[in-house]
Amino acid sequence: MRVGVVGLGTMGAGIAQVAVTAGDEVVGREVSDELAERGRATIERYLNRGVDKGRMSDMERDAALGRLSLTTRLGDLADCDLVIEAVLEERALKREVFAELDRVCRPDAVLATNTSALSVAEIAEATQRPERVVGMHFFNPAPVLPLVEIVRAPKSSDAAVRTAYEWAERAGKQPVNCNDTPGFIVNRILIPLLNDCVRVLDEADVRPEDMDKAMTNGAGWPMGPCALIDLIGVDVHVHASEALHGKLREERMAPPERLARMQEEGRLGRKSGRGFYEY
Ligand SMILES: NC(=O)c1ccc[n+]([C@@H]2O[C@H](COP(=O)([O-])OP(=O)(O)OC[C@H]3O[C@@H](n4cnc5c(N)ncnc54)[C@H](O)[C@@H]3O)[C@@H](O)[C@H]2O)c1
Repeated sequence: MRVGVVGLGTMGAGIAQVAVTAGDEVVGREVSDELAERGRATIERYLNRGVDKGRMSDMERDAALGRLSLTTRLGDLADCDLVIEAVLEERALKREVFAELDRVCRPDAVLATNTSALSVAEIAEATQRPERVVGMHFFNPAPVLPLVEIVRAPKSSDAAVRTAYEWAERAGKQPVNCNDTPGFIVNRILIPLLNDCVRVLDEADVRPEDMDKAMTNGAGWPMGPCALIDLIGVDVHVHASEALHGKLREERMAPPERLARMQEEGRLGRKSGRGFYEY
């Protein structure tokens, strides 16, 4: 199969890696040669790590990298069977990309968006073929986390949903079917739940260490909520909370005061060296 990936940032590079590792020919599109090259370098770094850990051979890595081609022209995605968009989370930008994909891609191609918080239907409406548009919501890091939410918008066809689902399964992922509702499945549940945990820190005067110890040992979470927010990034979590709160208006979804303060202070978690914990 030939897969197009639009945007080779955090998610797009991970998705392209999943696809080349699964044996697909991938065309990755970025806005400049430098950014495209940066995406390729990220993929190469992670594949090298796979070689070091004995998960793949040198030859397999080279073959996988050989299946990746880079471009800055969307027109080079014309022959793709499946295109997965992972550009910035901006509605106007995504609609522009989909309108252009609609013009250049084969009529039978499936066009998928990796949006976390936007309506898939609104993105699909930028095309003349909303029945060929679905959501494919990967989790970060895409090569590591198995879940892909296959999002059906009101006009998505059964065939398009099936193509996306079957591709994800073949690529070694664990796809699930869901609908085009705010937060889909995981974020709809996880965002307010993490916010509850943060509020309890202040309401009950609990330390992050104790919160994490409680939730890992008492609720069986693989990672405590504070460590998880540090991993996701406080800014990313706050942004996702605001988006969900904006749509569903449940108070639990609004970002807690404490996270807003952390964001102001630049305590964003692992990526800034400091969040709930020091790194
Ligand atoms: N980061 C996460 O944890 C996460 C998880 C699931 C879904 N998402 C979603 O994935 C999408 C991408 O997020 P990200 O974290 O990878 O962002 P990112 O900023 O790391 O990457 C976005 C990339 O898109 C490129 N880009 C912008 N306009 C483009 C265009 N017209 N054509 C091609 N490339 C273009 C940018 O140069 C950048 O490299 C967003 O919709 C986000 O909501 C993110």
